[in-house]
Amino acid sequence: MMFDFVDGSTGDEIAAGLNTSALDQIKLQPRVLENVEGRRLETDLLGETFGLPFGIAPMGMCNLVWPGADAALAAEVQQRGIPLCASSAASTSLEDMAALAGERAWFQLYVGQSREAAFNLVDRAAAAGYRVLVLTVDTPQISRRIRDLKNGFKVPFRMGPRQVLDFALHPHWSLSTLFAGPPMPMNFETAGREFERGESRGGIDWTFLDLLRARWTGRLVVKGVMAADDAVRIRDAGADAVYVSNHGGRQLDSAPPAIQALPQIRTAVGPDFPLLFDSGLRSGEDIVKALALGADFVMLGRPILYAIGAAGAPGLARLIDCIADDIGVAMAQIGRRAIADIDGTVLADPADEPAQTDLEPEVLVPLKKADNR
Ligand code: FNR
Repeated sequence: MMFDFVDGSTGDEIAAGLNTSALDQIKLQPRVLENVEGRRLETDLLGETFGLPFGIAPMGMCNLVWPGADAALAAEVQQRGIPLCASSAASTSLEDMAALAGERAWFQLYVGQSREAAFNLVDRAAAAGYRVLVLTVDTPQISRRIRDLKNGFKVPFRMGPRQVLDFALHPHWSLSTLFAGPPMPMNFETAGREFERGESRGGIDWTFLDLLRARWTGRLVVKGVMAADDAVRIRDAGADAVYVSNHGGRQLDSAPPAIQALPQIRTAVGPDFPLLFDSGLRSGEDIVKALALGADFVMLGRPILYAIGAAGAPGLARLIDCIADDIGVAMAQIGRRAIADIDGTVLADPADEPAQTDLEPEVLVPLKKADNR
């Protein structure tokens, strides 16, 4: 059930599949006889320097994957000097996440039926010392996740025969989770509110963005943007960055692959406006591709939870080591020594490539606009 909660997407899971297959089709151009000694992965974003060009995307209820997942994430980001975006629906309160992850913690905001409750979270985040707020706008209504429906997975959790059987078949997880105490959506618990996963978040609009911008004095990032016009309007409303994402294909099954939107949005917002990206990134080379197509920084979603689910905190550390190593090796192959030097010129011309999947060729056409940075 927990694997499906993480791995699953909306509908027939077409969008999630396209996110990864579209990245697979993008090719990097090998170059030779460039001195690539002393490569550096430090990356500047929003006035800070991070140890790696990626951080950890907001994901709700991480402690469901393995007890202590939130604490493991916090320890890891502290050690690596990378950001961890704590979700509104996290299994640890935002105050506790700030205490665990320090300045590396960002806070992600969902706005449900009560704006007052949302602003209360914003004020709590400010009081807890957060400097970056990420407003997620691509979930006006949570979509139907078929695997969750089949498994009977709900928050708040309800136990039935199917769940009893699932737990009995996974005793290591079940007993560990039982001993640690079943995870709860702690930002809601601490506010005395019940978390309803299906609650509509469709009431916010451009005026809300203006209100939030006026209230939140720290850095404001707007997450879940796929249209160039929306990105420009968000930039003009005073946001500090746009976060290009289709929520990992978890919301609109007919959405285009997120990587396709990235170069279009880069062209629209101009070369200097900060852009973050997620959805479908599975390797160091994927990250290099996203940087080449216009992202300044990327966030990892599911792979982080797969690693924790497979092997706990050591699994997480191992994954981050592998991805960081892979970025360094890829940079050596394409002749780049610094993250800031990765631009559209590192891409092989996609038109020269045979199709690797059955994606229509026009899916790749916008990718050719990449060398605009
Ligand atoms: C998410 N995502 C998400 N996004 C958000 O803004 N707030 C949230 O609470 C969550 N929760 C969440 C839970 C789980 C289990 C997953 C897998 C994802 C979306 C997440 O931030 C990110 O956009 C996607 O995970 C990126 O896609 P990939 O790379 O995981 O395919």
